[in-house]
Amino acid sequence: MPGATTIIDEILEWRTRRRAIILAHYYQDPEIQELADAVGDVLELARGANTFECEVIVLCGVRFMAEAVKLLNFQKTVLVPDAYAGCSLVDSCPAAAVRAFRRRNPEHVIVSYMNTSMEVKAESDILCTSQNAVTIVNSIPANEPILFLPDINLGNYVKARTGRKNMQIWQGACIIHATFAGRRLASARAEHPEALVAAHPECPADVLRMADFVGSSSSIVSWCATQEANAFIIVDESGVRHSLEKSCPGKGFFFINSESCNCCECPYMRMNSLEKLLTCLKNLEPQIEIEAHIRRRALVPLGRMLRVQ
Ligand code: 13P
Repeated sequence: MPGATTIIDEILEWRTRRRAIILAHYYQDPEIQELADAVGDVLELARGANTFECEVIVLCGVRFMAEAVKLLNFQKTVLVPDAYAGCSLVDSCPAAAVRAFRRRNPEHVIVSYMNTSMEVKAESDILCTSQNAVTIVNSIPANEPILFLPDINLGNYVKARTGRKNMQIWQGACIIHATFAGRRLASARAEHPEALVAAHPECPADVLRMADFVGSSSSIVSWCATQEANAFIIVDESGVRHSLEKSCPGKGFFFINSESCNCCECPYMRMNSLEKLLTCLKNLEPQIEIEAHIRRRALVPLGRMLRVQ
């Protein structure tokens, strides 16, 4: 019906009324990515938020991503459409366990993946994302022992890439990436022998060994765009398909399913919706709050990461 107001129109109207910007991770539904002022991986979202003039930032992703944005934009209102959009990696790493490790091993440099709680970040020496983890670990003097947390697969990948021997790794994992099976990737390769393979570093080692490229969600999009190949097998959350198809017109993308859900969608990421996005802009809730003493401590390792890369 011509002239009918859609939910997209309403979101755009409220975005203007609130002087808000909308940031989306690549794992969001295509309609959310299309509405967003910027789409990025974890590093780009954390970095990019303060380049906008606005009063409100809505982070369409999971909660730890919104917390990172709040950390760097403390004076702004930061919203996440669903406050319960969590992350299995965050859940795998309680702050009390990290504090206990620190007491027993005071000489270790604690390198924490962004997929951690604010309390864990506050206990950490430096942070990293999937895009910069190798660079961050390489920036630490070779004689200093490291605890890398919480992702076991990313940790093992970084250990192999850096050749670092004195690096302990936490045992956490992503419920989606960790259950991509090498067996399924091998069959996909047999089915599409012409395709190159791009995988996220949270995948198991046997998957990563078969990959032509390993990188963050954003790096996968830019890598596929620069390759001459026309077909790719992607071992990542399927939300990335939208940006891949936009950046690589005419190329074909085959996704393999993870064992945990027989799909490749992160259930936490998909808790956000257009309806919740509209409601949070109208109500200015749920807001991200970080206690001042945690913020002060968490900013130190975040600042170190941003200075390295
Ligand atoms: P990137 O945004 O760094 O690709 O990682 C997303 C993520 O959290 C995967 O679980």
